[in-house]
Amino acid sequence: MQRINMAAHSSSGTGFFRTLLSRCRTSGPGKSRTPGLCQQHRCRLSSLPPLPPPGTWSSRLSRLSHRDLYRLSVTDPDQFWGSAATDRLRWVKLFQRVRDCDLSGGKISWFLGGKLNVSVNCLDVHVEKHPDRVALIWERDEPGTEVKVTYRELLETTSRLANALKSYGIEKGDRVAIYMPASPLAVAAMLACARIGAVHTVVFAGFSSEALSGRIQDAQCKAVVTCNQGVRGGRLIDLKSTVDAAVKSCPSVQHVFVSQRTEQPAAMGELDVPLEKVMSCQSSVCPAEPLDSEDVLFLLYTSGSTGKPKGIVHTQAGYLLYASLTHQYVFDYRDGDVFGCVADVGWITGHSYVVYGPLCNGATTVLFESTPVYPNPGRYWETVQRLRITQFYGAPTALRLLLKYDESWVKKYDRSSLRTLGSVGEPINHEAWHWFHSVVGDGRCPLVDTWWQTETGGVCIAPRPAEEAAPILPAMAMRPFFGIQPVVMGDEGEPLPGNSVSGALCISQPWPGMARSIYGDHQRFVDAYLKPYPGYYFTGDGASRSEDGYYQITGRMDDVINVSGHRLGTAEIEDALDEHPAVPETAVIGIPHDIKGEVPFAFVVLKEGVGGDPPAVLQQLRDLVATKIAKYAVPEHFLVVKRLPKTRSGKIMRRILRKVATETTRDLGDMSTLDDPSVVQEIIEAHELYRKQRSQEKKKN
Ligand code: PRX
Repeated sequence: MQRINMAAHSSSGTGFFRTLLSRCRTSGPGKSRTPGLCQQHRCRLSSLPPLPPPGTWSSRLSRLSHRDLYRLSVTDPDQFWGSAATDRLRWVKLFQRVRDCDLSGGKISWFLGGKLNVSVNCLDVHVEKHPDRVALIWERDEPGTEVKVTYRELLETTSRLANALKSYGIEKGDRVAIYMPASPLAVAAMLACARIGAVHTVVFAGFSSEALSGRIQDAQCKAVVTCNQGVRGGRLIDLKSTVDAAVKSCPSVQHVFVSQRTEQPAAMGELDVPLEKVMSCQSSVCPAEPLDSEDVLFLLYTSGSTGKPKGIVHTQAGYLLYASLTHQYVFDYRDGDVFGCVADVGWITGHSYVVYGPLCNGATTVLFESTPVYPNPGRYWETVQRLRITQFYGAPTALRLLLKYDESWVKKYDRSSLRTLGSVGEPINHEAWHWFHSVVGDGRCPLVDTWWQTETGGVCIAPRPAEEAAPILPAMAMRPFFGIQPVVMGDEGEPLPGNSVSGALCISQPWPGMARSIYGDHQRFVDAYLKPYPGYYFTGDGASRSEDGYYQITGRMDDVINVSGHRLGTAEIEDALDEHPAVPETAVIGIPHDIKGEVPFAFVVLKEGVGGDPPAVLQQLRDLVATKIAKYAVPEHFLVVKRLPKTRSGKIMRRILRKVATETTRDLGDMSTLDDPSVVQEIIEAHELYRKQRSQEKKKN
């Protein structure tokens, strides 16, 4: 296995970093420690009742069983989280109060009065102990070209990048958009923002220029960090031109930092700054800004039930603590493990379990740049063998795709290094669960189905940790994590006691990793999450509690769908479609898909007179969604209808559309509030025709 430096951000594996590090080295490993952030600066707790002294989290609490730890976490959250935060994080100034939360009032504050720096907790503390431990393994698109980056190298790169940002006027509190696929520089950009107190917002590099500009505008970003091209599945993806198009409508952007992922030179304009070049002139030491526990760490945009994505706000200490604790306990992370989460850094899973959780724990974490089927369907397992991955954490959609291939694609690779398997982002069906568990894991690795959300910051419900050898039931998230108290609500908004119940999933107590707000619109945060069930956090998901008391997620209760593990608001797609001048009205719903989980199904009303050439309009609609949002958001089905089923008050009855699209019209339920029930038969007939046409086309192909 090749062991190269940060030298290889270019696809050839040669380039900038090696020269950079030898030319501009201004500090040795020992000198790069940040002044003012050492253990001596821990303060004594003043106002807290008995917390264990620093350094005893593991010794004191490891003596408790997981069941007792859970009990402590919900009966005495101050004690539990106070001890965890004291022992697991390095503080510049220790907090004075563990929490000040009022879910009804929309106030969520943790570790009040504390000051710390997240990048110090993810880098400096480990460089002091083991500078040469590998922090990142960048599993690049071409198998066998991985790049390893040590904690010392990552700290130096982060510091140079932080100094570069500062030299261009980026300051504490400024927002910086990061539009890059998984790479060491993307991680360094996130940590560089954290180091100087800037707020990053990573935008998944599959989003279109309009989606990117909408996010940049909402966050009023001062800078963008990107790269010339992305490399995925053997293809080059132009990222710089997408950013160029996006920033045209973003007057807040003063600089675009462009890194070179490939040899292809990017056309540089007025705003553009060559990232590697400016970094090469910067010091590899950057003092870390001491930040308040509740200063904003990052924004991450996610879909809701309206057309406008929400900038979910996460803050410093609580988020980091929750990400690191869940990373350790849910996945049974141990020193020396190679943690393989294959999510992109553009999603919350990438934030919490590629970057912040693992790095805070001093882990070696894998950055996966490729796809599950490049160059063949054995890619994941060949990577497991080559990198000796111990935890493999991925999305059910990829598993559903892979299980269609012959088992030999899995079996021919040595997977003996694997200890825990994890699944995230959508319900995992039984077939995928069993394939993952028995074929990939040879039946010997616990498989944890982890339920959580962008808003929860980290895993909230998962089979582990639990009591030693407690059973794991297939395809079930099962048990709450420390500090999480799930509640299942009934139709009248009342908590349902006992087992064998189902309803709306809420969480009754705040936890440190939960989102604090929606950027620029706290009222929207309160309305979406805290108002529906006063005093509780409402997840938007439905769940049931089994007769054994285990939780099973039943799916979204709002108009949010999950396409290949990517969350998407149907209203966002409708907004994009409605921009077409020939389309007065649309309704988009999600229907099940055997690989993607769900796909959007669009019901489209066309203006009279366009009837002549609907196929051309439909193609324009496809292009519109790809340009306005992303390719993965393009509806799989378009059904042209004359009218939509509406209630007398004008609300579209989506329930009926779902029944039509899933061909379950035998029982349409109560239609008494429909304005004109005859519309239903009209739509059923249109769908029947559509179905026949599709099957004929399939036969032809
Ligand atoms: O509906 C739930 C589903 O994904 C939603 C959260 O999406 P997002 O914020 O993009 O975060 C995904 C990665 C954490 C949830 O409201 N979801 C997530 N995990 C599961 C799940 N549904 C069922 N089972 C899961 N394990």
